[in-house]
Amino acid sequence: MAKVTVHRKAHFNAAHRLYKREWSDAQNTTVFGKCANPHYHGHNYELIVAVKGEIDAETGFVIDMKVLKDLIKDEIEEKLDHKNLNEEVEEFKTLNPTAENIAVVIWNILRVKIEVKLELTVTLYETPRNFVVYNGE
Ligand code: NI
Repeated sequence: MAKVTVHRKAHFNAAHRLYKREWSDAQNTTVFGKCANPHYHGHNYELIVAVKGEIDAETGFVIDMKVLKDLIKDEIEEKLDHKNLNEEVEEFKTLNPTAENIAVVIWNILRVKIEVKLELTVTLYETPRNFVVYNGE
């Protein structure tokens, strides 16, 4: 049976600050630039979740798009949208909320909710020009 990749786009707004506690403000600004702002700042994150697998002979689906949509809404948007990632999201209390780390956290949450036989890839845009991709490797 043909393998097809199904994509679902989602969106969330969130605030963050990138920094290492043990570094000075100057050092943090050198490494993390504007994202080191101690007063936080927001990004409009665009998320693309890709699910690859064989088309189910009975339904004609790789995954039910409604199921995928609700999964992203309930597990990711509810958790991250309009949140201060550093302060309000457990995973980022000890992990710098870079686009890379956010993508890994999202992938880990979704991976256990999607059938093992389906391949999962998460693409996360932090800005229209900056994006990261994670597929569990
Ligand atoms: Ni930032």
